[in-house]
Parts: sequence; C-alpha cells; structure tokens
Amino acid sequence: DTDRRVDSVLNLMTLQEKIGQMNQYNGFWEVTGPAPRGGAAAMKYDQLKKGMVGSMLNVYGTKDVRALQKIAVEETRLGIPVIFGLDVIHGYKTISPIPLAEAASWDMEAIQKSAEIAAAEAAAAGINWTFAPMVDVSRDARWGRVMEGAGEDPYFNSRVAEARVKGFQGNLDEFHLAACVKHFAGYAFAEAGRDYNTVDISDNTLHNIILPPFKAASDAGALTFMNSFNELEGIPATGNAYLQKEILKGDWGFKGFIVTDWGSMGEMITHGYAANLKDAAMKAANAGNDMDMESEGYVKHLEALVKEGKVSEERINDAVRRILRVKFMMGLFDDPYKYCDEQREKTTIGKKEFHDGVLDMAKKSIVLLKNNNNLLPLKKEGQKIAVIGALANDKTSPLGNWRINGDDGTAVSVLEGLQHYKGNTITYAKGADVVVGTTTFGTEVHINTTDKSGFNEAVQAAKAADIVVMVIGEYGLQTGEGRSRSKIDIPGVQEELLKAVFEVNKNVVVVLNNGRPLILNWEAENVPAIVEAWHLGTESGNAIAQVLYGDYNPSGKLPMSFPKAVGQLPIYYNHKNTGRPGNGQPTESVFWSHYGDIDNAPLYPFGYGLSYSSFAYSNLTLSSNSFNKNGQITVSVDVKNTSNRDGKEVVQLYLRDMVGSVTRPVKELKGFELAEIKAGETKTITFTISEKDIAFYTANKIWEAEPGEFDVFVGGSSQTVLESSFTYTN
Ligand code: IFM
Repeated sequence: DTDRRVDSVLNLMTLQEKIGQMNQYNGFWEVTGPAPRGGAAAMKYDQLKKGMVGSMLNVYGTKDVRALQKIAVEETRLGIPVIFGLDVIHGYKTISPIPLAEAASWDMEAIQKSAEIAAAEAAAAGINWTFAPMVDVSRDARWGRVMEGAGEDPYFNSRVAEARVKGFQGNLDEFHLAACVKHFAGYAFAEAGRDYNTVDISDNTLHNIILPPFKAASDAGALTFMNSFNELEGIPATGNAYLQKEILKGDWGFKGFIVTDWGSMGEMITHGYAANLKDAAMKAANAGNDMDMESEGYVKHLEALVKEGKVSEERINDAVRRILRVKFMMGLFDDPYKYCDEQREKTTIGKKEFHDGVLDMAKKSIVLLKNNNNLLPLKKEGQKIAVIGALANDKTSPLGNWRINGDDGTAVSVLEGLQHYKGNTITYAKGADVVVGTTTFGTEVHINTTDKSGFNEAVQAAKAADIVVMVIGEYGLQTGEGRSRSKIDIPGVQEELLKAVFEVNKNVVVVLNNGRPLILNWEAENVPAIVEAWHLGTESGNAIAQVLYGDYNPSGKLPMSFPKAVGQLPIYYNHKNTGRPGNGQPTESVFWSHYGDIDNAPLYPFGYGLSYSSFAYSNLTLSSNSFNKNGQITVSVDVKNTSNRDGKEVVQLYLRDMVGSVTRPVKELKGFELAEIKAGETKTITFTISEKDIAFYTANKIWEAEPGEFDVFVGGSSQTVLESSFTYTN
C-alpha cells in the first residue's frame, strides 16, 4: 500500500520537484521572523517555496519546524512535507552517556531504552529523523569519534546497532524517529586516526569487520543510511557504487534512502575524484546516493544531467521513491504536523522519567578498572573526603560532544552527586583547569599546560582527608568529530596534580572522564582505585556517586582496548595471529612481531571490567564435540558469585577458527550474556553456536562456514579463562 501511495505522488511530480526531494539544507534563517532577503538564506527560502527542498537539518523546536513545514505543505505545488533531521546522538535535551559509554554497559535493553528516551524527547521538539546510530567499528583511539560508536568489535557493534535502531524507530509513531546508520563505510579506519583522512583497507576487513554492524542495522529495519567523508579503494564513499549500489541496495536489499554526509558530495572535488560540482552530482547519483546534504550538487545540476542522459530518470525516480517511502512510513503525509504538538513539547522535554532513564543508563555505563584492597565502595559515614580535579565540579564537560540541545551547565557534577550523601565531610579543591578559554562545537580546545597555581590548595585538601576522589580526564569537547589526538594521555597538568596529591595521600580514587581509551600506565601502577566514568550526560554526578558509595554495583566492561602507548595503535583483541606471533620465542629473539620497548598487550583489554562482587568460572561444557550445517552446539559454563554482594557479570563467549581460506582472528566474540547473580549463587549460562556464528567472508567472496577445528573460550573479558574446542563438518 505504501508503494502504491508513493507512486501516486511520484506520478504527479515534475523532474524539478523530484530533484527537490533529493536536496537537504541546513537551517537557514530566523524561521519564525521575516522572510530573508538576499544571500544564501533567501535562495534556500525561495527554493523551499518552490518545492525544491526535501529535507532540513538543524531546525528544531515545534515552532520553527511548524513554520517551515507550513511553507512546504501550503505554499508548494504538491505540498510534500519536509523531513527534519538532527544529530540526536545521545539525547536531545536530557543527555544520556556518550554511545561508547553506553556500549560499556553491555546491556542491550538499557541501550534500546536510552535511544527511546532520546527519540521521544526529540520527536516532541519537531524532529523526525536522527543521524544515528554511528556503527563504525573503531580500533584507533586517536580518532575522536570513537566516542560515538560501540568500540572495536563487529559482533558487539552489531548487537548495539540493532538495539539503537529499535530504540530510535520503535513502531514509527510520533514518539520515535527514523534512524540513520552511519558512516557507510570505513570512516573509522582513517590513517593515523586523523579524522577525514584516507582509508585504505582490504575487502576482507571491509566485509568481516566493518560491514557486519551496518548489515545488522539494515536488517533491524533502519530507514536511512549516511555515507561518509572518506575514500575507499580510491573512491570517495559518496561516489562509491560498490558500497551503495552493489552491497547496500543490491546484496542487502536495503529499501530506505542514503544521504550524503555534510558537503561530502562537493568534497569529491577536493578528493580529486570529481572535476566540478556537476561531475560530483553525477557520480554520487549514479553510485546510488539519494539525498545531498548541503552541497547543492543535485539542486544545481541534476536536471541538466538527466537531460544530457548522464543520469537516468529511472535513477531519480528510485531515489525519490525511497525518500517518499520514508516520509510515508513516518506518517508525514497523513499529518505533516505530527511532530509539532506544542503542548506535547512543553510537557515532554526534560521529563522526570527521562532523567531517571539517563541516570540508570549512566550507572550501567561505568567500568571499574581497579579496586585494590576494596577501597571502594566508600564508607557512608565518618570520612573526610577531598574531591579534587578540574572536572570534579564541572557541569558542562560530562555532557560530552554531540549534545545538541543539552545546555551548558546542566549536568550534575561529581561534587554535587557526592554532596547528596550527608554522612561524610567533603572538601573541594579544583587544583588545575583542563582547558583554558572557551570551547565551542566548532573550535579547538586549548589545554592548560602551565597553570599550577591551584596545586597547593589541592595538596592541602588531600593531606587533611581520609580519601581523595580525583576527577580528571578529557574535557567533554575533546572528543567527537574533528577531535583527533596524537597523544591520548590525561591532558595537561592533571597527571602532575594527581602525582602531587598521591604523594600526600595514597587513598586516591581516580574518576576518569573521557570519550576514548586513554593511556593510564601510571594510574594503573600506583593508584588503588580507578573508575571509568566517560562522559555520562545530565545525571553524571549522581551516577558516579551511587557507584562510589556502593548503592550501585558496577558491571560495565570495556568496549575498546586501552593501550599502554600510542605506538600500539591500532590495538584490538581480535587481531590476526601473523606468521610470527612470538609464542615460545627465546626472550632475547628479535625476529617476531613485537616492539623492543613495550609488550604487545593492552593495559586493559576489550571486555574487561570489575565489580564489587567477584565471579569464578567453571565447568565449561559442550553438548557435542562436532556439528554440521543443520546442527548446533550448546556451550554452557557455571559462573559463581564468590562474594557476599549481589552483582552482574557479562559472560563472554569467543571462538577461534583455526584454519580458513583467508586468515582468521585469534579470537572473535560470538555471544555474551549480562547475568544477574546473587551473592554466593552459581548460574549456568548457555550459548548456542550454529552455522551462522562461524560463517565469514571467505576467499570465495561470500559469507559461508568452512569446515574445520574451532577453539571456544569463555570468561569475563577477552582474556578468557576457560577453553575447549569443536569441529564443524558440512
Ligand atoms: O551527522 C553528521 C555526521 O556524522 C558528520 N557530519 C555532519 C552530519 C550532520 O550534522
């Protein structure tokens, strides 16, 4: 029925109107004020009235959205509604943890719920479409956008992608948004971790590592995709037919539409792949791209390209069908103002239940990295606690990057969170700033590398305290788009301050705020307790306080390896074995794959995280030692909570395919379960392995399972504790 309705509209459209649907503009004037005169705004306004704008981004709030929608619906010839997109990455006004932090929960229900909250709040403000989830598998922490994804593993990213797509889209009612899966594809593999840089990867890596989460998101029903800024095999993704036409729309049968990234059509000229904007528009359209974000390539040149026979009208019809289909599915044709209910907006934004939801997500996102001698949880009474650090009372940084409408100063700081507990005496000293000057979304962060004038006060506070809670790390806008770093240490003078504090008080709990793995060698070696608290959003301080006081028992696990040195990057647990992995080499030998000055292992591996409970694994049992194409194997393991505290443990299953038609990783995550286990209780956790779990993109260039031997590993991190094996026969 939707297709019939789509065609009934398409049949009425002129070529120019069709091209208009393929054009997306950024918000361009005080939309509820007088009409713009002159300049780009007037040009865009004029085009909107002519039906030459199919979508807008960065216009939000029911008043503004309604004003623009009214022009599209009432003043254009066919009255086709505009679809309004926005980067609702981790919340609209009530901000949830950054996606990398959410991923650390390994709690797919919570992640889905968090996306639902973001959708409900944004949808109440007129938005229909979010440019999320980002599902780029990320192995290089220098790349600032690792904060926006789910880390280094393709299987794990796939599960998170499904949860986020379901959460955003729900049943496509007025409380949900169309999702946009991005960046298709390879964007995270930028050379040297520098954003927008060249990507040069094999087809093997593309299919086995990068594409699975995109496929999972498409299968989960994601309505749109965004291509990416990078090139792949020398062809910019925006003009890449292999990715868009062959794989996504062809092999996967994707029915939604593909939007470019911001200006990426025009950037094909700078890449040296298109001679001019007309050439770029032709290449993008013919490669299967459907909508142009802010390049003006389609709106300026597509009509001529069709007339010259360089782009077929059938291709235009296909793109427009896809765009209209999404608009129909979002209900915009039935009610263009479906998302413009002013009353709903008033009663929805910042709702208490959203705050409760993001608080719950924030607690679940925290990863306990170290806790010697059970320094944590803190005692609730009779303690003198010094809260120190540039980020300890910061109410903006915890919102992280891509916080859209999350206002500066609206996060609960760690100091405030701790102050809700009245039994202890708290002193606060900032010690030193992380950043100097103001930083906005589009400007560089300036790090304080010289001012130590607050050190003395902080050291005195530490001296007088029983325990120090030291909140340090990356400022919220230090990660995200365009925020690559060549050093991924704790920025500025903060580590020096930590050392000065530690000198006078050894009971230091480091609470880290960051949007990427950091190098923490000194901390891991010296400080008794480390809490990875990322950028946790609006309720950050409350979540951290509840974990520090033990009212919430942490269960997060790292979705990305934490390296010991930048020189180890890219670092990931699912690497290949190589011909010279070094097992059994004499210690003095140099002819194996290693560094002379550091070992190969990360400081903290993928899947790692502690809890106030402790868990013991035993009885790894396989239902059989072989299976075939139509069969399966169950793998079960007993996990005992050996502590006197109820807790949760992420039980992880990994496989190794011993021999393949192309080389295979030393370990691959194939299942996980977040198990609630009571104090003293033993739970048996069961996983099923079937053909689909061992299939991969083989030398035949298809996904298939190859017969052979497989190792099975189970444990509470990628450094697994139990091992077995089976054979697959077909
Ligand atoms: O959605 C983003 C994308 O991830 C990076 N460039 C800009 C887009 C729209 O804001």
